[in-house]
Amino acid sequence: MWDTLFLNAEVATMAEGGAPYGLIHDAAIGVKDGVIAYVGPVGDISADIGDLAREVHDVSGDLVTPGLIDCHTHLVWAGDRSGEFEARLLGKTYAEIAKAGGGIMATVAATREADEETLFDAAMTRLQDFLAEGVTTIEVKSGYGLDTETELKILRVARALEDEDHVRVRTTFLGAHAMPPEFKSADAYIDHICNDMLPATKEEGLVDAVDGFCETIGFSPEQIERVLAAAASLGIPVKLHAEQLSDQGGAKLAAQYKALSVDHLEYLAADDAAALADAGTVAVLLPGAYYYLRETQKPPVDALRDAGVKMAVATDCNPGTSPMTSLLLSANMACTFFGLTAEEALAGITRNGAKALGLEDCGVIEIGKRADLAIWDAKRPAELVASIGQNPLIARIFGGAICP
Ligand code: NIG
Ligand code: FE
Repeated sequence: MWDTLFLNAEVATMAEGGAPYGLIHDAAIGVKDGVIAYVGPVGDISADIGDLAREVHDVSGDLVTPGLIDCHTHLVWAGDRSGEFEARLLGKTYAEIAKAGGGIMATVAATREADEETLFDAAMTRLQDFLAEGVTTIEVKSGYGLDTETELKILRVARALEDEDHVRVRTTFLGAHAMPPEFKSADAYIDHICNDMLPATKEEGLVDAVDGFCETIGFSPEQIERVLAAAASLGIPVKLHAEQLSDQGGAKLAAQYKALSVDHLEYLAADDAAALADAGTVAVLLPGAYYYLRETQKPPVDALRDAGVKMAVATDCNPGTSPMTSLLLSANMACTFFGLTAEEALAGITRNGAKALGLEDCGVIEIGKRADLAIWDAKRPAELVASIGQNPLIARIFGGAICP
């Protein structure tokens, strides 16, 4: 007997191939032990509905999708960077602010100061916005510590969010985010990351993936490669902030390490798309940062699509370049700014978001996957990405449990 049965749903399974959005009309979803045990037309169920499940919920024709997945955030930070927003409006660039000691370093200083409880409370407040919009899995990066103690603190806080609420958190170690002030040379800091910081985060069991910032204001491809190699030698999957502000060849480099994802990609050369496709590396598009920095260079979406690269969409939630907590808005922006179809955008925050995190048990509604679902006051999947600032969520289901 199933635990729960959802009846009369318009289900966008987001399974690949087949109908657009993987749509099934008049569908039922059966859940047992937190896992999807049935998905298909109600009419195909031959048994008496009352005998099938302990609890039956009539969804009355509403839309059900996989729970949303935000595969790129920097959710844990302290401090305020609104002054930089003001400065940029007066003509300063992001790179100029970073070079003058603001930017990421400003957040690092505030985050080092903050205790775990303060960081947890701030991150939890942000997290609530995501959950209210149907997010069931969220990635959280470190990278605002840049010393072992603070990086561990951030990752611990991120994992504690998962313990506290009905959400799955994947943690990514982003030690190679910026140069900490106490280091004189970037190479010496990279040594420290590879020899000390990364092993320490791994030892505490706090790292699901390793990331870096390959950029003129971040680290060179040679320095990033040492981090990727160190991660690979510890058996940890990698991701990379690549080609956000200039073309450094970071995406191609990460693909050589079979990266789960390369993220941003505004300056990716169209020719490099093939390498991502070959490696099965997901292109994560972050239109919030593009918008907030008032960039004009767009990622080569046509080339990515033509090469068969999977595209995910994420908020990049962070205090400096994308202080946004709405994944639906990111999906909308991925359509309006970058030219994704509505179906691609929705796949980007479900199926391909899972792939960007190396998760195979979520992101689509299929038998055997986790019962992470979102029920919406909507009839068509495109409604979710077509509106701005509306939140049609009716209920969030996490591992089969209807969340309060
Ligand atoms: O993803 N690109 C680097 N990291 C962040 C920005 C962090 C910050 O400015 O605080 C990003 O955009
Ligand atoms: Fe980022």
